[in-house]
Amino acid sequence: IGQKIVYHPETSSTQLIAQQLLHQGTPEGTLVVTNFQTAGRGRLSRVWLSQPGDNIAMSLILKPQLSMQQFPQLTFLASVSIVAAIKEVVGIDAQIKWPNDIFIDGKKVCGVLTELVSDPEEVKAVIIGMGINVNQADFAPEIKTIATSLRLASGETLQRSALIQAILTKFEAFYQQYLTEGFAPIKRNWEEHALQFNKHIKARSLKGVLEGEFKGITDDGVLVLQDANDELHYVYSADIEV
Ligand code: BTN
Repeated sequence: IGQKIVYHPETSSTQLIAQQLLHQGTPEGTLVVTNFQTAGRGRLSRVWLSQPGDNIAMSLILKPQLSMQQFPQLTFLASVSIVAAIKEVVGIDAQIKWPNDIFIDGKKVCGVLTELVSDPEEVKAVIIGMGINVNQADFAPEIKTIATSLRLASGETLQRSALIQAILTKFEAFYQQYLTEGFAPIKRNWEEHALQFNKHIKARSLKGVLEGEFKGITDDGVLVLQDANDELHYVYSADIEV
């Protein structure tokens, strides 16, 4: 992981660069990093905005032999790696908001976007995009209440390269564990750091609001919610209210 690192001072989106590199046959573990994205992408077709120079925007290319069903597990692997790296470098216990937003003090500090390159039969590659607010000191009024940075949370200005290195090291270790032991240990780690685990939550989706106790995730990363009648609900896509 990270044997090959491609750096662009500025680019559209590291996800796009990673896709291009994949077509050119780049090896597994290639990392694309930039200082500034002009067309950063978030989950659910949202945009990902980030100030030049302060933050981390990077995409990691993996070529695991996984089924379509297994590939979302890598996103969960990424979030536990980021949480572990933040703990090591910054000393802060971050939490994960389902599916894979990293939160500190109830605000988002990092987002993960996993994209799949596949044909109907097999997963060819997975591109894991990570956007982390590192040294940003200020946020626009409309996102101030929901976004934070590691600097705002810790009071320290951080070296982005140290954090990238820690994330890659953690990722590599979890990835090895995943390839040998499967998803169970990753899932346990994820649930240990999950925001509102075993608590009453509201999941808002196009179908409306579902309420209940957050019981964890399935092996597909689907959220499991237990309602007042002890019935289990499986939530594939929703926003969890914090
Ligand atoms: C989300 O929270 O919706 C996911 C955000 C993911 C942002 C990262 S930044 C690096 C990579 N390149 C992109 O265009 N998006 C991801």
